[in-house]
Amino acid sequence: MLRVEDLPKAERTSDAVFLEADARDRRVSEPEPEPRSEEGTKKWIDRMRYFLEVDPEGCWVAADGDEIVGFAISQNRGRVWYLATYGVLPGHQGRGIGKRLIDATLAHAGDRAGLFSSTVHPGATRRYRLAGFSLYPQMRMVGTVDRATLPAITGLDEGGEGDFGWMDELDERRRGAGHGPDHKYLLDNNRLVVSRRRGYVYIDGSGRPALLAAEDRETAEKLLWESLASSPGETLVNCITTANEWAVDVGLAARLDIGQEGYLALRGMPEPAPYLASGQFL
Ligand SMILES: CC(C)(COP(=O)(O)OP(=O)(O)OC[C@H]1O[C@@H](n2cnc3c(N)ncnc32)[C@H](O)[C@@H]1OP(=O)(O)O)[C@@H](O)C(=O)NCCC(=O)NCCS
Repeated sequence: MLRVEDLPKAERTSDAVFLEADARDRRVSEPEPEPRSEEGTKKWIDRMRYFLEVDPEGCWVAADGDEIVGFAISQNRGRVWYLATYGVLPGHQGRGIGKRLIDATLAHAGDRAGLFSSTVHPGATRRYRLAGFSLYPQMRMVGTVDRATLPAITGLDEGGEGDFGWMDELDERRRGAGHGPDHKYLLDNNRLVVSRRRGYVYIDGSGRPALLAAEDRETAEKLLWESLASSPGETLVNCITTANEWAVDVGLAARLDIGQEGYLALRGMPEPAPYLASGQFL
């Protein structure tokens, strides 16, 4: 299991894993991936420390002597399990380490429903399907918002801790369990915008929607427009499955382009909608 003192080493491992994976999967039109910034490193460690505090038994690493060569960080929240991040160092891949790590997290999940955002890595997707997950291709909207397209939006407010109760009930309807303590973590790191009792969106520091849930399509569209309005330049709307084509339609209206990126892996639940999952908190 992961220990708090291993976090700096685990972070270095995670940076090396995803730098290599991003370079391999990069399309020619995309910029060369770069190592994580100092700020990114700090955020990663902070987030993993939080996961360790809330549900340490879902957090696993593989060690080779002093070195951490792999990690799988998952969490149980009520009746739902999610995988926040997972990787094995390139030089150690293909030897069964990844299987042992993911099996440890799945044992922790028990028979809970589950969800996470997956890369296209053939070893990863093989494991997920064999573990009973359905893989839903994810789209993403990318580009710079044409500000002339922004509609006037009414009925939205800044959210706060007092909103968590109804937000958890909405989460339960969308994905089988509330985000519970994750809402506080997300609020500390993002701006929260709500249509009270109808839907919410967390918007990150670069104006991207980090997690969006709504009762209906109209509310979801409004929340997404609000996110697009707050993006200062290039933006990205991630984790869009076909059941959430409303997000594609909003993105197209704002003159963003459709891209494709990995899968939303689900078991024991239908495709959440209207819903845009957060990559790490699902
Ligand atoms: C995905 C990852 C964690 C798997 O770790 P690993 O130690 O290489 O995995 P294993 O050796 O345990 O192999 C897992 C399964 O995939 C298969 N596999 C491994 N590499 C493969 C490849 N390149 N192509 C096809 N199958 C592959 C293995 O045969 C094994 O299946 P089996 O047990 O049914 O035989 C690792 O490759 C990785 O870090 N990839 C880059 C980051 C990433 O994509 N992470 C996933 C985020 S969702």
